[in-house]
Amino acid sequence: MKATAKAPANIAFIKYWGKRNAKLRLPMNSSISMNLTEIFTITSVEFDVKLKEDLVRIDGKVVSDKEKERVVKHIERIRRLAKVNLKAKVESRNNFPKGTGLASSASGFAALTLAASKAAKLNLTEKQLSILARIGSGSACRSIPSGFVEWRAGNTNESSYARSLHSPDYWSICDVIAIVGRKSKKVGSTEGHALVESSPFFKTRLSGMKKKVDEIKTAMKEKNFSKFGEILEEEAINMHSVMMTSKPALYYWTPETLKIMLKVIEWRGQGLESYFTIDAGPNVHIICREQNVDKIKARLVRFVGIKQVIINYPAEGARIVKF
Ligand code: PMV
Repeated sequence: MKATAKAPANIAFIKYWGKRNAKLRLPMNSSISMNLTEIFTITSVEFDVKLKEDLVRIDGKVVSDKEKERVVKHIERIRRLAKVNLKAKVESRNNFPKGTGLASSASGFAALTLAASKAAKLNLTEKQLSILARIGSGSACRSIPSGFVEWRAGNTNESSYARSLHSPDYWSICDVIAIVGRKSKKVGSTEGHALVESSPFFKTRLSGMKKKVDEIKTAMKEKNFSKFGEILEEEAINMHSVMMTSKPALYYWTPETLKIMLKVIEWRGQGLESYFTIDAGPNVHIICREQNVDKIKARLVRFVGIKQVIINYPAEGARIVKF
């Protein structure tokens, strides 16, 4: 009983930051994202009578007890659903550094959910997979459907899941990621989410979310890139303002992060249109039209001194690659 799945990381244009139910990972607000072609996780899960305990390896290494516990808890959910009693061997590989805010938990839990449920011979729908992935790691629910995705917040386990708004070939926009940090972040998103209500700005943020989600969906529908970009950039600053005013304060940016943000604004003033967004880490995602990718890459290397740049196109959601 073995299956291997591949799932993309995703970049949120409208962010998920704060949960209304921590156990079920129900978010405070809906979010909008795009799956990424070049950063992904491939995970195989094998249920085997010969195993005496669950084994978990990520990127070739045995994981810490804390990480293992989170993975095993997820496998447990799937075992319960499938009425399987066998122990599992989980092998997972990321093609990017884990824990740097490049959404390794999103691609990781999406791939794990699909591989484990298939190995356990469960035939789940996309909606069921998205719900299950969400309980493992919130943003993982958005890595299940394809392309441009909306995670409707919902207010129950059954109503909080992601669905595709547009297929990957709908819009040729790119996410050029400037990698500025490779170290694992100090405060992970699970702890970060729990702090949102300590920010005096969180209530204000939340009150504007519905309108923002509607506006960005309209901009996507009309392929109005400038409007879309304005909204997503403002949203990233909005979320980081909450992070920086939480108690304790969370600073995910480094001086390099800010340097790139300012350059993006400067380049835009010169007619090279792109917009930035940043997740819970120092790396900057520069969202642009496909025809501007090479120019942006060249400028990142020349003016900012960034050595690693990852160019992503809109990607398909989680897929079984071997069964
Ligand atoms: O799914 P989590 O708990 O890793 O949270 C993701 C949080 C952000 O990346 C900062 C925002 C988002 O919506 O992806």
